[in-house]
Amino acid sequence: MTPVIEVEGLVREFKGPNGTILPAVDGVDLAVPEGEVYGFLGPNGAGKTTLVRMLVTLLRPTRGTARVGGSDIVREPGKVRASIGVTLQEAALDPLMTGFELLQLQATLHGLKKRDANAKADELLERVDLVRAKDARLGTYSGGMRRRLDLAMSLIHDPKVLFLDEPTTGLDPISRKVLWDEVRALNDSGTTVFLTTQYLEEADALADRVGIIAGGKLVAEDTPANLKADVGANRLEVTVHDESQRARTGELLAKHGKLLEPRPGVNFYLQLAQGETRLAPYVLELDQAGITVDRIDLVEPTLDDVFLLKTGAHLAEDGPDKP
Ligand SMILES: Nc1ncnc2c1ncn2[C@@H]1O[C@H](COP(=O)(O)OP(=O)(O)OP(=O)(O)O)[C@@H](O)[C@H]1O
Ligand SMILES: [Mg+2]
Repeated sequence: MTPVIEVEGLVREFKGPNGTILPAVDGVDLAVPEGEVYGFLGPNGAGKTTLVRMLVTLLRPTRGTARVGGSDIVREPGKVRASIGVTLQEAALDPLMTGFELLQLQATLHGLKKRDANAKADELLERVDLVRAKDARLGTYSGGMRRRLDLAMSLIHDPKVLFLDEPTTGLDPISRKVLWDEVRALNDSGTTVFLTTQYLEEADALADRVGIIAGGKLVAEDTPANLKADVGANRLEVTVHDESQRARTGELLAKHGKLLEPRPGVNFYLQLAQGETRLAPYVLELDQAGITVDRIDLVEPTLDDVFLLKTGAHLAEDGPDKP
């Protein structure tokens, strides 16, 4: 079966200062089969929105090709648009309109007759659980409610493929989970979903496959489980507040594995041997060496470890699930 989204050698350059050319998307290849949730994970400025804008025909590629729903994004933009739903990162909504009015208007713009537009608006409000806020002005909606309304708008023409650009950035954990459930329900009913995110947890929870993007390039791509398995063994996180004891701590730990760049607030991040699941020997050894350990944890690899392995840096998160 041909993929619903096929991207080959896609490049988008922007002019930088002093006539330099900056590739925001730098040669991306990917294919998303029908029915998949594909998570595009990367930090600020990685190129996520630029790629999405090209795929939804809002931005012309500098080079490369892509097909969405079987149509070429440059030569057949109308056909592409007919098959997709999009919620962009920064959607502006008129604060004086009500949720119902906005959906009704959008349905009319999509060619529905008034009675059908009303029915569609009601159906979509129900679908994203906003029936009670139907007649409230958008200015009074919470962040989570706005995102759900964005989602409802993108569903008016029953798209086969849905593009969601950072659908939960800035939302609290509860609103985030509500939106995840909506996305899962849509996917269960057959919609292919391409979503971008900066949140490891979101990619892990929602995506069948994850593409990790850094500096405009796809640096890894697989199921979350396979990506984490590739990274291998467990890690040990150690915090020692007493600076005079840190050099000795580093020496002792380095005997047991490779020291990696720790995340902020932690002093040591040790990659243990494959299959190592014990914490006690390290606690004992450090204690016997007279080191005051303030915190020690055994942690399983996360997608952040995949990111660290591929790029040498941590995926900085600025959302509510920041550790
Ligand atoms: N219109 C533009 N003109 C010039 N540079 C741009 C333009 N749009 C994006 N860029 C640059 O391209 C790079 C990628 O930006 P992009 O918005 O795609 O990143 P992103 O992954 O969506 O980031 P974020 O998580 O912050 O939304 C950045 O360096 C950005 O400054
Ligand atoms: Mg973006």
